[in-house]
Parts: sequence; structure tokens; C-alpha cells
Amino acid sequence: MDRLKSPARLMIVSDLDHTMVDHHDPENTSLYRFNTLWEAHYRHDSLLVFSTGRSPTLYKQLRKEKPMITPDITIMSVGTEITYGKSMVPDDGWVHVLNQKWDRDIIIQETTKFPELTRQAETEQRPHKVSFYVKKDKAKDVTNSLSKIFEERGLDVKIIYSGGIDLDILPKGAGKGQALAYLLKKFEANGKPPVNTLACGDSGNDADLFTVPGVYGVMVSNAQEELLQWHAENAKDNPKILHASERCASGIIQAIGHFNLGPNRSPRDIPDHENNVINPLPGHEIVNFNLLVEKWRLAELEKSDLFIAGLEKLTCPSGVFIHPSGTEHDIKEYVSVLRKVYGDKQGKPYRILVDNVLATQIGSDTWLLTFDKWEYSGKERQGCVVTSILKKDSDWFSWVHVHETWVEQSGENEWIL
Ligand code: GLC
Ligand code: MG
Repeated sequence: MDRLKSPARLMIVSDLDHTMVDHHDPENTSLYRFNTLWEAHYRHDSLLVFSTGRSPTLYKQLRKEKPMITPDITIMSVGTEITYGKSMVPDDGWVHVLNQKWDRDIIIQETTKFPELTRQAETEQRPHKVSFYVKKDKAKDVTNSLSKIFEERGLDVKIIYSGGIDLDILPKGAGKGQALAYLLKKFEANGKPPVNTLACGDSGNDADLFTVPGVYGVMVSNAQEELLQWHAENAKDNPKILHASERCASGIIQAIGHFNLGPNRSPRDIPDHENNVINPLPGHEIVNFNLLVEKWRLAELEKSDLFIAGLEKLTCPSGVFIHPSGTEHDIKEYVSVLRKVYGDKQGKPYRILVDNVLATQIGSDTWLLTFDKWEYSGKERQGCVVTSILKKDSDWFSWVHVHETWVEQSGENEWIL
């Protein structure tokens, strides 16, 4: 939360399943487009918040299955758990707020009387969330009866129906919208309210996000019936809410453009000859470079000596490259290895995911960069943490130092660069 010294230029608060993540696209095209846009243009001065119905267990599982970048803040279990940063430090203040007028035992006692309710997996039962499945045609009646019973028993609860199947019972003060409002209040108290906030969702539990005052909202094209219905009944005249014509993360990118919230061309959408940005931000340089390497290995770039010569010009004569295995090389060797691997991934589902690009200026013309680099081959992945030093000569960066270290136990694999 304190990573940024000034207010975030843009805070994106996005649901995951069927919003950021398209489960109908095995190639994850829109997710890669978004990730690359975010790391190139937003990571340095903006905040990414994931807001999911999933418990921490299922959230971590999704992260393993899909090429997702790391959010600054993670809101899980339908706005009942908030954590910060990569290490996911919990917000205890929020737990305290949610404990008001909440009694899980009464909820469990009363819900067992409803045969229409099927309990979800144990991992999805959380301190401030009790979850069931219920058929569409029963959902309204069950919700109404439950609300009455809980009111009689003196509880302040919220019942949310999502995806035409999931029924969540939460404290009244919980939900994705309340969690977002709580965060905004915290930022305000720190003197750093985001300049713009964009909420993104597709299903019933996301409606809450669109009720937070001042935020822009996008319902992706594939939004569920219950969310569209909520919108028709409650927010159809609100010009700050867009029903995108594009699916999932592409709908988010569309909304960034529609509301004029900042750059909305992902480097993945830009033809290579236009990708030579003059005066790029250091993070943008990292993203573009890795995108070129990906295309080079996929043989999606033309094989030209000019490309290699261009890279050679970017490497500093005394530069060093430390491979994750620990071996040290002249940085020029890195370029000559690259020459050899042209097209080695051709026709394969190979992608490079650059995550968490953070740049610190350490001299008048020198930057220290750290980021995580993942190579995906379909669902298989291997990754390393990269630390590098870039130096700016007039309009271009040159690479002074690159040091890669394994992430997880991926060390034995054939990591080339
Ligand atoms: C996720 C959660 C589930 C919840 C649903 C809707 O799928 O795993 O427990 O009911 O989101 O909020
Ligand atoms: Mg969803």
C-alpha cells in the first residue's frame, strides 16, 4: 500500500473468474494483453487490486493455473479478506469491522433447515463467509426466507447470489463494494486517494463494486444475467458504468480507453516496427525487450542480423550476465545465445510473462530494476527473479548488468536466457 509515493494514477479493482481470467480461452490472449499493458504503462504509478469470491486456497490455485501478474492488494472470499503485497499480509482492521453483529453459528444452524442449499467445499467456508450452491429457480425464495429469519435473530447479514449457482452469506458490512470503500477511505486518510478507480466484474457479487461512489465500472461483455439485471434495475443511467463489447480482460482494456483513463494499447497489440519507443520508461523497456525475445523464439519476428546487431548495441561493453545456475558471462554472450535460439519455440504455446516490474533510479542516468520472469509452455512454467541495471544514453537504455535467480524449484529445466 505504501509502494507509491503519490496517489495512484489508476487503481483497477478486478474480479478474476470470467473477468480478468477467461476460462474459455486456453491461450489466455486477453490476459496476456492486459498483463503486458499493465507492466509497461501502469505498474510504476498505479495499483492493481484483485477482488475475488475465491478463498485464499482457491485463489492460490488459480494463480498456478493461469498466467496472472501479482496484484498490490488481494481481496478474497467476496470482500471478507484483504491482504497486501506479494507476501499477502492480512488487514486485521478489516477483520475487526466484520466481527460486528456476526454470528457464524446461527447462520449454520438456520441454513441446515433448507434442503435446497448444498454446502460448498470446506475451503470456501471462511470466518466471515458461509457458502452454498442453490439452483436458479430456488434462489429468490430461499434468499427471502433466509433474510427474514436472520433479521428475526438480530443478525445483520448480506446474501449474494452469483453465477446462477453460488449463494454467499456475509456480514452486512462485507462484500466487494464495502471492501473497496474501506480501502479508498484508508488511502484518503493517508492523503493518497487514487486519481481514478475502475471496477471490473461479470457476476452478482460484483454489483457491489459498482455502487462505490466515484468509481468507474465495466461489466465485461460476457457478464452474467444477474449482474445485467441488477444494472438494468439500479444503474442503467449511470454513465460511469460500461457494458463492454469485449470479453474478460479485453473488456477491461476497452474500458480504460472508453473512460480515457490512460494508455490502452498493449505492447502485444503494437506492430514490431512501431514498438521502438523513443524515451521509454525503464519498465516499458523491460517489457518490450522480453516481448521481442518471445517473438524471436517463436519465429514471429523476421530473422535478421539487424535485430541482433541492435541488441548488441544495447549491451554495455563491460556488462555481466549471471545465469540462474550461477554461471557468469559477458553480457555479449547473452546476445549470441539469443542468435542461436531463433524459432526454437516455433509452433509451441510459449509465452514470457513479466511480472512486478519495479524500477528505482540509483543515479542520474542509472536504474535498478527488479522483476519476475516466467516462461510458460502451455500450463508448464518456470521462473526467475531478475535484477538488472540499465543506463540511459541519450534516448536509449543500455544493459549494464543482469542477474537471474530461480523462483521455486524450477532449477533443473533448460533455461537458456
Ligand atoms: C467463488 C468462491 C465461492 C463463491 C463464489 C461466488 O467461486 O469460491 O465460494 O460462492 O465465488 O461469490
Ligand atoms: Mg466472476
